[in-house]
Amino acid sequence: MVKSQNAVLRQAYPTPPYWTVSFDVPHPPAPGMFMLADLGGPLREALFPAAVMADGFSVMVPPRHPATQLLPGATVNMLGPLGQGFRLGDVTRLLLVAEVALLPPLLPLLDAAAAVTLVVETSTRAQLPPPDRFPPTTELLLVTRDGSGGYLGPLESQAPAPANLQRVLPHLLELLAWAERACFACANERYPALAAIVRAARLHPAPDFAQALVQTVMPCGVGACEICRIPTRFGEKHACTEGPVFDLLSL
Ligand code: FES
Repeated sequence: MVKSQNAVLRQAYPTPPYWTVSFDVPHPPAPGMFMLADLGGPLREALFPAAVMADGFSVMVPPRHPATQLLPGATVNMLGPLGQGFRLGDVTRLLLVAEVALLPPLLPLLDAAAAVTLVVETSTRAQLPPPDRFPPTTELLLVTRDGSGGYLGPLESQAPAPANLQRVLPHLLELLAWAERACFACANERYPALAAIVRAARLHPAPDFAQALVQTVMPCGVGACEICRIPTRFGEKHACTEGPVFDLLSL
């Protein structure tokens, strides 16, 4: 039975490159799950929590997202929590890997283990998030695709690096060997290559050792419209009900 809840907008403010929007709601979504919010458009918008509180949650969305146009106190009808979120269990060493634009749904996991390493990839240095945005206990590894800051990306590349730069891939392999769980938020088409990197780092990764949040449109959220079907190694799956967090090695 899908819950219909009325959320109340607590506040919305810019946190470049995103906007942070907070809602009070009786049953907030767990990390990796989502709410389908009626924000006045033709379709409901999927909202993934960037922070989860006992009585609400925050999202981080691009500027001009319809949620940023709401005023404090506005009531928003939401369906959810929906989908399968991250399955962490009792881990002490957690690795998070994200493209910067897709990072917010991983943020609630920053305090989910005693030791957390976060790998963030951007195109260029100007897009790197300020390190003080993250808890001081988070080990941060920054990656740029043009080599202007941090390690040189992309994450999957084995190409030789220019003399003054270091490829990120060897460090990613070390981190995958160190971690007890790894969670990814990248473009879907990168997941097969990232799965191959996980297999290269670990001989027999356990089911759900590496988990990936897939990116797709999810208009109904309940497996009815068929729009969110994604290909996996085990046939097509509904992202809305069987995901959107999948075992990376199944993608
Ligand atoms: S969103 Fe409609 S089937 Fe998944």
